[in-house]
Amino acid sequence: MGVVESVGADVRTLRPGQRVAVFPAPGTWSDFVVVPADRAVPVPAGVSDETAAPMLVNPLTLCMLYRAIEKALRGQTGPVLQTAVGSSIGRLVSAAAVRHDLQLINLVRSTSGAEKVRTLYPSQPVIATCDDDWQGQVRRHAGERGVHVVLDCVGGAMTQDLAELLADGGTLISYGHLSSGTTPFEALPLMVRELTVRGVSILHWMSRTPRERAEDVAFAQDLAQSTPDLLDVADSYDLADFKPAIEHARRPAKSGTVLLTTPQTADSGNEAA
Ligand SMILES: NC(=O)c1ccc[n+]([C@@H]2O[C@H](COP(=O)([O-])OP(=O)(O)OC[C@H]3O[C@@H](n4cnc5c(N)ncnc54)[C@H](OP(=O)(O)O)[C@@H]3O)[C@@H](O)[C@H]2O)c1
Repeated sequence: MGVVESVGADVRTLRPGQRVAVFPAPGTWSDFVVVPADRAVPVPAGVSDETAAPMLVNPLTLCMLYRAIEKALRGQTGPVLQTAVGSSIGRLVSAAAVRHDLQLINLVRSTSGAEKVRTLYPSQPVIATCDDDWQGQVRRHAGERGVHVVLDCVGGAMTQDLAELLADGGTLISYGHLSSGTTPFEALPLMVRELTVRGVSILHWMSRTPRERAEDVAFAQDLAQSTPDLLDVADSYDLADFKPAIEHARRPAKSGTVLLTTPQTADSGNEAA
C-alpha cells in the first residue's frame, strides 16, 4: 500500500495524499511506483497501513481458492484437506470454512504449530505432519472414502502422500511450493482413480470480469475493516533491510505477513508500506 503522490489529468477517482492498496502492479517494493488508476483501491477509513498492505493480495487469493474448492466439491461440503494452515492464506481459508460450514481438515508441519491453530479454530481438526501416523489421523477424520479436495501450498515429496488421501475422483489444488525439490505424481493412480490436479494463481485474477473484480475488491475491503486480525503483520522492515525481512519471512512458526516499508514522504506524513 502507499500514498498517492500525484494523479493523471483525467483521473477523477483518486487524489494526492489518499491511501491506496494496489494490485496487480509489478515493482511495488520501491519508494515510488506508477500504476493505472483502476488498480489503486482506496483504503477504507479506520484500516491501518499494516492491514492495508496485504488487504488485496491475500483476500483475493482466498477468493480464487474458494471458488476452485467449490467447483471441485460439486455441491458437497467436504472434507477438504489443507496444508500449511499456519500461513496467512491458510488462516484465511480456515476462517472462511467456519463461515461457510465447510468440513476442513488442517495440516501443519509441527506439534507447536498445530497447538496454535487449534486455539484459533477449535472446531477444525489439526494434524501435525511430523507425527508418523499423520495420514492415518487424516483418514480417521475424513472417513473411509477419503477427502474430496486437497488444497496444497507445500508441494514437493509430500504431494504423493496427499494424493493417496484423495477419494476417487478427487481434486488436488496446488497454489504454492513452500518445500524444495520436484513434485512427483504416480501416473497410474491419477488415471485409474480419475484424480484431477489443478493449479490456482492470483496472476489470473485480472481475467475475471470488471464486475467480478469489483465484488472481490469489496470483499477484501470489508474483511480488512471487519476482521483485521486475519491480515496480521509479523513485523515491518525498512526496504533497505530486505535481507533480515526475508530471514524473518522464512522463520518457522512465524505468524502474519512480513512487511517492507519506505520512509515517510515530506508531503503525505503517512508511512508507505
Ligand atoms: N497461487 C497464488 O496465487 C498465491 C498467492 C499468495 C500466496 N501463495 C502461496 O501461498 C503460500 C502461503 O503464503 P503466505 O503468504 O500465506 O505464507 P506465510 O504467511 O509466509 O506462511 C507460510 C507458512 O508455511 C509454513 N511452511 C513453510 N515452509 C514449509 C514447508 N516446507 N512445509 C510445511 N509448511 C511450511 C510455515 O509455517 P510453520 O512454520 O508454522 O509450519 C510458514 O509460516 C505460499 O506458498 C505462497 O507462495 C500463492
